[in-house]
Amino acid sequence: SLKRLMPSDILALKGKAPVVVLTAYTTPVARLADPACDVLLVGDSVGMVLHGLPSTLGVTMEMMILHGRAVMRGSDRALVVIDMPFGSYEEGPEQAFRNAARIMAESGAGAVKLEGGVHMAETIAFLVARGIPVMAHIGLTPQSVNTLGGYKVQGRGADGDRLNADALAVTEAGAFSVVLEKVPAELAGEISAMIAIPTIGIGAGVDCDGQVLVIDDMLGLFTDFRPKFVKRYAELGRTAAEAVAAYAAEVRSRAFPAPEFSFFDEVKK
Ligand code: KIV
Ligand code: NA
Repeated sequence: SLKRLMPSDILALKGKAPVVVLTAYTTPVARLADPACDVLLVGDSVGMVLHGLPSTLGVTMEMMILHGRAVMRGSDRALVVIDMPFGSYEEGPEQAFRNAARIMAESGAGAVKLEGGVHMAETIAFLVARGIPVMAHIGLTPQSVNTLGGYKVQGRGADGDRLNADALAVTEAGAFSVVLEKVPAELAGEISAMIAIPTIGIGAGVDCDGQVLVIDDMLGLFTDFRPKFVKRYAELGRTAAEAVAAYAAEVRSRAFPAPEFSFFDEVKK
């Protein structure tokens, strides 16, 4: 019988096997990714990838719950983690608990993710103490793009101390794993060796305990821009555009629908 992975199972992979994470936002995509993945992340990247928003700042609780429910319906093995959207947790632990509990209750997901290190440690501890497993997210935290001054690599040179402190703080607070986004590979390797919870890298080199990519990026479906850390494992966007062009041409030439796609008054002999 299939049992869904839990945060404790992900934590137990530390030092044993790499943690495989992909984002998912819809039921059909969750269905195809679930068998191969340990974690399906309903990232707030959904705002940019599926809704055409210019950043993740406009993503709402309702969007995260709607997509979270869709991913739960399409999966039965992977742990589903849902991003807390911008503005839903930063005021303090009580606000964070109220919204995290709503996300968990209305979606059935097994954990939430939120952005921030040292300054979010108190909130992470508050949630974990009250039954909400938390995946942390440090380094480049896209919800802070305006204060960070762009989507830059974080933790280069002397700034590495800040990342080390963030990693230690979220570990101490009880996070079961931590995303390291756009961090030098050497620093990500050091942090992974230093802390007791799995690091999940995105643009953070091969020495992290696991890796995550945005599924539409790695399938070649989202092509507005391509960060250096994205490897395209398929070109589904190009394949789809070619299929649409072929359909349009066949409609215009009346090649589609051929008789095999049509119904007739008399059943053919
Ligand atoms: O929103 C997202 O997809 C994420 C991952 C890229 C880590 O936070
Ligand atoms: Na995110």
